[in-house]
Amino acid sequence: MQNLLSMEHLSTTEMMDIIHTAIAYKKGESLPSYANKTISNLFFENSTRTKLSFEMAEHKLNIHAIPFEVATSSVSKGETLYDTCKTLEAIGVDALVIRHPENEYYRQLKGLNIPIINGGDGSGSHPTQCLLDLMTIYEHFGYFEGLNVVIVGDISHSRVARSNQQALTKLGASVSFAGPKEWQDFSIDAPFITLDEAVAQSDVIMLLRVQRERHTVQADLVGMDYNTHFGMNAQRLERMKENAIIMHPAPINRGVEITDELVECEKSKIFEQMTNGVYTRMAVLNKVLGG
Ligand code: CP
Repeated sequence: MQNLLSMEHLSTTEMMDIIHTAIAYKKGESLPSYANKTISNLFFENSTRTKLSFEMAEHKLNIHAIPFEVATSSVSKGETLYDTCKTLEAIGVDALVIRHPENEYYRQLKGLNIPIINGGDGSGSHPTQCLLDLMTIYEHFGYFEGLNVVIVGDISHSRVARSNQQALTKLGASVSFAGPKEWQDFSIDAPFITLDEAVAQSDVIMLLRVQRERHTVQADLVGMDYNTHFGMNAQRLERMKENAIIMHPAPINRGVEITDELVECEKSKIFEQMTNGVYTRMAVLNKVLGG
């Protein structure tokens, strides 16, 4: 694997290979060491989970991370994304992890000769989030075929919804959407159901963050009691299937997509997703660095 730009570029065999490697690392399989490799993590948009879990994954694989901070770099002097990346290549960095607000920013980087791992592009895709979600589902159920998954909420502004719908469908799950009609993406070919239908029939309830930073005034739905209409709460928890799980990529808007008391409830995999993010990113780094 040369780059990881979006889930569209991965076959189901490659997805399963990454999931199995990540699960093996989590179970304690001996880790490869990349002590002669360097990586730079370029975050042009804020992040807690993705940035720190890449740093943790790099640390566990003995990869040397070369610090890069947008605020203290020459980006403020007008340096282009391509020139920043080409500079890191020129000084000897072996691979780049990049998060950027522009959809498909990586199209500008075709002249690079080092691998890129996409840490999220605008409302485009977030492949390592998708892979850690897949790992979490597979770890719980042991299969994808026939699972009912509902993706709930701010679909049109999300970089998680489309990749997860495509990957889960390829792997044999049935994926539906629920949430406010203003935030649906009707270009995606999947059923749209009410959250109450979804809660009763789904094995996986995948909540999305309400992304106010990406909303236009019309999309903001100011004044709506979101949780009552479209969020998980104690009443809906009661109606979930016995073995069903709740997921959320986080950060969470507590009391909006999910009430406080459910964030760490037995069915919630939210913090397990973060743990799995480290192992998934280790498996991706191992692939990209030639393991
Ligand atoms: N889930 C996710 O991408 O979180 P961060 O924005 O904190 O990286």
